[in-house]
Amino acid sequence: MSVTTPSWWQTAVVYQVYIRSFADGNGDGIGDVAGMRARLPYLSQLGVDAIWINPWYPSPMADAGYDVADYRDIEPSYGTLDEAQALIAEAHALGLRVLLDIVPNHTSDEHAWFRAALAGEPGTRQRYHFRTGRGVDGELPPNNWQSVFGGPAWTRIGDAPGSPWYLHLFAPGQPDLNWDNDEVRSEFEDILAFWFDRGVDGFRIDVAHGLVKEAGLPDEEDVLDTAQTLVEHREGHPAWDQDGVHEVYRGWRAVAQRYSPERIFIAEAWVPSNERLARYLRPDELHTAFQFDFLRAPWRAELLRAVVDDAIAGAATVGAPPTWVLSNHDVTRTVTRFSRSQPTHLVGTDWERGRWGDEDPDHILGRKRARAAALLQLALPGTAYVYQGEELALEEIEDLPDEVRQDPTWSQSGFTDVGRDGCRIPLPWNATSAPYGFAPDDGAATWLPQPAHWAEHSVEAQDRDPDSTLNLYRSALRLRHSLWRDAGDVKWLDVGPEVAAFERGGVQCWVNTGETDVRLPEVATVALSSVRAVDRLLPPDAAAWLTFAEPTE
Ligand code: BGC
Repeated sequence: MSVTTPSWWQTAVVYQVYIRSFADGNGDGIGDVAGMRARLPYLSQLGVDAIWINPWYPSPMADAGYDVADYRDIEPSYGTLDEAQALIAEAHALGLRVLLDIVPNHTSDEHAWFRAALAGEPGTRQRYHFRTGRGVDGELPPNNWQSVFGGPAWTRIGDAPGSPWYLHLFAPGQPDLNWDNDEVRSEFEDILAFWFDRGVDGFRIDVAHGLVKEAGLPDEEDVLDTAQTLVEHREGHPAWDQDGVHEVYRGWRAVAQRYSPERIFIAEAWVPSNERLARYLRPDELHTAFQFDFLRAPWRAELLRAVVDDAIAGAATVGAPPTWVLSNHDVTRTVTRFSRSQPTHLVGTDWERGRWGDEDPDHILGRKRARAAALLQLALPGTAYVYQGEELALEEIEDLPDEVRQDPTWSQSGFTDVGRDGCRIPLPWNATSAPYGFAPDDGAATWLPQPAHWAEHSVEAQDRDPDSTLNLYRSALRLRHSLWRDAGDVKWLDVGPEVAAFERGGVQCWVNTGETDVRLPEVATVALSSVRAVDRLLPPDAAAWLTFAEPTE
């Protein structure tokens, strides 16, 4: 019998580095490549297998770097291409793979292509979606699509009668590319090769389901707040999840296959079902795709079980590993998500963006649940992503002063949606004074302000506390290799409606989302738990990993 060892990316734990907020090496209050290089040993000691770096390309920062002006260089405030190459080499030397973030749905309005298009240079507007508007003089947008950040998805260039509009599903500074144009297709294949040639191990694909639009750009039938269309997997929208996008990824896979060792892709695709998601994961397309239902599931065992089953089943239809994510730079941090009453269904925008009405968050409760959720996530088959600060159990900062908010969602929603700044606060590295080791000098201002109480949640403070979340992650990541990595299928245990408990390869993971203690099997040894004193009883909002001296079957 031959045993196939899974490729690294089929079981990897990937740490998401939100570069602006990770570590600042030069003291300007913004994270950068130098800061990241200095902290690579921290990531290697944490025990992750790879890092995914949010966009680090030159950008006017209309959307924190997701508006790329040049895909083959580094944003000057982050560093240089030479520094980036040094980072890739140093990460590899520590055994960490490096994934970048490619943004193919749109460029920046300062990208050379869009400038040329605005200047009316022949043959350049076809790379984007320029259209004449409706109305007598074309004064109305060409269709009814809304931007994900709020307001119309179209901006007009000039006021003269007949002036065209351009499409931007996100900010006006992010014009959508036209993926029916061959030049666009070959340009991106070339950009992938540019970074693969520099040793990059793969890419997270930004809004992977958005590139190809329905021919003719027809109106959407029911106009909703489009933030909901992104998060709530709305079906049938002519801007999203069009069948034509798969041809693009077949081309990308062919580029990746020219390289050794393996280069891989992970899709950010908000699609209506795991069946639709699996289409991106066919063997000649992408390797993995975030399973966002996991991140939308409330703290309820029955929903967690259902989401896990559905994700595994969907991925299995195409032989892909499921990919678990609890949070990222676009959604409310896990601690805060779990710190209020939990809905009875998967949730969407209101829940995502911290608009919780009057209910005060209970962060102590949220932290307990987030720690337990981490043990659930890391025990599941497939790959897992950890968003920076999750290993410190940082909470969403929901009371940022309005004047410091930077997310375009805030202004584009007419100042009604606070957006995503609250999950993007610079990390606290030490327990002294602001900026808590984020930047080299004490007192340096950071691009978003840090709360003073984060000193107690800093890496330094947690490093010396054996019960800290940081040390829980370190233990979990270490044990994952021996207990779970090659453990096989999830078999649920029938131990009560409010417990999500399963076995994989003779090891068990128990998660108690109920309100009473749960009795653990007498013969089990608690290999790891999210609370300190688990003996035979697992308290509410806690998780444990159990091993057995004798096989359980
Ligand atoms: C990224 C967001 C970004 C958007 C537009 C996403 O889904 O994760 O941060 O605003 O794409 O590029």
